[in-house]
Amino acid sequence: MIILEEPQKSLYVNNRLLEKRYLRTDVLGETNETPDDMFRRIANIFSSAEEGQISRNSHVVNHDSYYNLLASLDFLPNSPTLLNAGTENGQLASCYVLPIDDSVNGIGDALKQTMLIHKSGGSTGFNLSSIRPAQDKVGGRDRVAGGPIGLLNLLSVTADYIKQGGVRRGCNTALLNLDHPDIVEFIGAKRDPGRLTNLYTTVSIKDNFMDRVTSGSELPLVNPRNGQTTATVSACDIFDLIVDQAWRTGDPGLTFIDTVNKNNPIPHLGKIEYMSGCGEEALLPFESCILGSINLVNMLKKELDGTFSIDWQHLSQTIPLSVRFLDTAIDLNHYPILQSELISRRTRKIGLGVMGFADMLIRLGVPYNSDKALGIAEAIMSFVQDIAHETSHKLALDRGPFPAYQGSVYEFEGITMRNASVTSIAPTGSISLIAGVSSGIEPLFGTVFVRNMLDGEKLLEVNPFFERVAREQGFFSFALLERLVSKNRLDQIEGVPDSVKKIFVTAHGVSPEWHVKIQAAFQKYTDNAVSKTVNFPREASRDDIAKVFALAYQQSLKGITVYRDQSRSEQPLCTGEEG
Ligand code: CDP
Repeated sequence: MIILEEPQKSLYVNNRLLEKRYLRTDVLGETNETPDDMFRRIANIFSSAEEGQISRNSHVVNHDSYYNLLASLDFLPNSPTLLNAGTENGQLASCYVLPIDDSVNGIGDALKQTMLIHKSGGSTGFNLSSIRPAQDKVGGRDRVAGGPIGLLNLLSVTADYIKQGGVRRGCNTALLNLDHPDIVEFIGAKRDPGRLTNLYTTVSIKDNFMDRVTSGSELPLVNPRNGQTTATVSACDIFDLIVDQAWRTGDPGLTFIDTVNKNNPIPHLGKIEYMSGCGEEALLPFESCILGSINLVNMLKKELDGTFSIDWQHLSQTIPLSVRFLDTAIDLNHYPILQSELISRRTRKIGLGVMGFADMLIRLGVPYNSDKALGIAEAIMSFVQDIAHETSHKLALDRGPFPAYQGSVYEFEGITMRNASVTSIAPTGSISLIAGVSSGIEPLFGTVFVRNMLDGEKLLEVNPFFERVAREQGFFSFALLERLVSKNRLDQIEGVPDSVKKIFVTAHGVSPEWHVKIQAAFQKYTDNAVSKTVNFPREASRDDIAKVFALAYQQSLKGITVYRDQSRSEQPLCTGEEG
């Protein structure tokens, strides 16, 4: 059994994960890089790139500033940057999205592009809506077309065939518009457990669909090949089907595409119809995004009386450096396909977010499911958003606005910006493990849990802050850990003070409504989307899920993903576990 001490700055809690996956190896496969070397490798290439910038006010970030930003674990970029910066691969972005033309050539191109992106360490988001339905006409012959679901299988197999950068299985998201004739099959595409496990499905929903559900009206299904209506279905029936399938397996999620487009800063480049692999980025065809997250636990300071408070000054210094890092990454990135390079350099979207939110709340003594937590979420994210935008604006004055700036919402508002969107909230499945903090904006999954390593080894890990509080308050024991491993519900264990139970509330102790409220608090101050899973207890009903879908729409979320406890035999893939 390993019990971790409370993480200190610059102490790599998850050295093992770094060693197994991120650190460079020699020809014999032996690790020949330390975590420190890794951060220096990244800082070197980023500071050299800054020096190479044609900079009017000659403000460049030097090696030490970037090294300290990373090695302190104040900020970590997404996994591909950690893995590939300063290496031959050089691919730095997590998210790419691909259009698929409804032709053999178009599908062949998309499959090849998928392989290239996954080989480089990226992930893919697809919209299958332009693909004609299964059994449709091809070349004048009836009942020939393979349809979107057949293609979904091909895409899944293709992505799986190529392990990401040789180190892990990638994530994919496939989206289908609700009025596609194959929508019913798509909703049920992940019905069989064990199939399509490397992709999420999400249904693209327009506001008028939610109105149709409310009014009980019909929805026409339209063949994308010729624009003809093939059938009409009851909107309520379709909604019920989505709810039923989400209740069974978690998929599909919902994407509220009108909300996405209402908030699109570059509508002159076209409508957004694609979501990234874990749903944190709504992107244009071929667009990519490099993500990075600020570690909120490091944005706390200890007061003289031993309590914690938010270190706004440290946060205000960390945000500009992080934005500059991500902006520089766009120029450094080796794009696996030319179309992505062209559009990504035109829009220069970056995704700065946060991780360790739940751990921060715990140290502040605030329950995740409380109004106070909502207030902190809004205060933190509006602060991040303001300073991140101000930095992007300053960068634009120095390095020039993003090339597609003219015609953008920013031009209309008279604000010059370096990046078409600046903030988004990623799941941080792996990087939060490296930093030793709770992932993204999720509540704690547990206070004690067993981590399965790739080689079959099992590690028992205790939330370090919980251990400290339990020791200080005198209820720490091995028996307690054993009970927590078997039950995973602190709130149901005797002998733990109520005040501790409230603060260490875990995902299943937080009601779905609170999950949505926290997601909405972050979304309010996030340019792009927020990746989050709304957890339900196993005994939740379909009606509970329907209510949360409706609430997500009302709260102007861009998308929602739910998961009912034990409804999939496999753990969700994209948790950063050693999959
Ligand atoms: O923590 P890390 O940077 O590794 O990734 P994340 O924040 O959990 O996920 C960010 C994005 O990386 C997701 O949207 C996916 O597109 C991609 N990803 C992936 O391709 N494969 C995984 N196993 C996990 C994430």
